[in-house]
Amino acid sequence: MTTGYTVDQLRKAAADAVRAPSLHNTQPWRFRLVDGGIELAVDPRRRLPASDPSGWGTRIACGAALCNLRLALATAGTPATVRLRPYPGDPDVVARLVPDVPRRPTPAEQSLHRAIARRFSNRAPFWPDPVPADARWRLVEAARAEQCWLELVIGTTAVNAFAEIARSAHRVLERDSAYVTERTRWIRSEPSPDGVPAAAGGPQSEPQDLLPQRGFGGRNRAPGRDFEPEPLVAVLGSTGNTATDQIVAGQALQRVLLTATDAGLAVSMLSQPIEVPGAREALRLSLGRFGTPQMVMRIGYGQPGRTTPRRPVDAVLDLPVVR
Ligand SMILES: Cc1cc2nc3c(=O)[nH]c(=O)nc-3n(C[C@H](O)[C@H](O)[C@H](O)COP(=O)(O)O)c2cc1C
Repeated sequence: MTTGYTVDQLRKAAADAVRAPSLHNTQPWRFRLVDGGIELAVDPRRRLPASDPSGWGTRIACGAALCNLRLALATAGTPATVRLRPYPGDPDVVARLVPDVPRRPTPAEQSLHRAIARRFSNRAPFWPDPVPADARWRLVEAARAEQCWLELVIGTTAVNAFAEIARSAHRVLERDSAYVTERTRWIRSEPSPDGVPAAAGGPQSEPQDLLPQRGFGGRNRAPGRDFEPEPLVAVLGSTGNTATDQIVAGQALQRVLLTATDAGLAVSMLSQPIEVPGAREALRLSLGRFGTPQMVMRIGYGQPGRTTPRRPVDAVLDLPVVR
């Protein structure tokens, strides 16, 4: 296929891309059509200077949005060839997608694409039922298919050791008033197209909780409604830690999340031990893996919940652009 993508194809694919997760639901992305190619770029106005000074979170979110873009285009029969960070002089351009040879979507692409609209962060306690081996295997394979690894933290000792790292990272972050102020600014108690709705924030933390919950102003907890005693904790990692590696990890994250959704599993993310450099290194050492941890997930069987709002797709499109 030599002709480029159309504005209509861009708009449809971007509508799926914006369903990706992002730190505090900032939605730090923009989409445009340049010479028939779809370009995904960082929206510099939606950076989080206190919570994400290096831009790691923005690149993870944009990578996740890129995964959705690829799935949307593939399931429409117009798959893309992707170049990451195509312009060395403009590192905010995360990816450029041009049409590849048209083909029928694979069943895996179709089921992952169907999961996009259903996925959401479920911060409530999960049922104690264990995640079966075949679902675990699918999650590990999803990360591998995107050139990343997924390490499942198994057993009480390993989970407790992880929890200790996560809690200490959480304490470090909570001592930073700029970080706390920035997070508070993104909590929404009224309907809003961005930010984290307080109702999605999960229940308030309690001292007996094993894993730290990022405070999004959640509800009080019903007595006895504790978190699952042995959560399935999964650490997603990449081989390197360049900006490009982080975009690759974002795509892998989204593929793992969509695979979990497709398998009927609930997930919440836990990035405190990634955001604090010492904790990230302690986590890497505890796993004994080469490469860099990029995200931690709690995975299990959750109660039904709701997806969170996004800005309308026209608010994230730049049209038209002539280079
Ligand atoms: C880089 C990154 C870090 C995140 N860290 C956390 C976290 O530590 N705690 C949490 O509850 N959610 C975390 N999230 C989830 C976002 O808050 C969530 O994706 C966003 O609010 C949109 O909601 P949704 O996932 O339900 O669509 C993170 C998401 C990303 C992409």
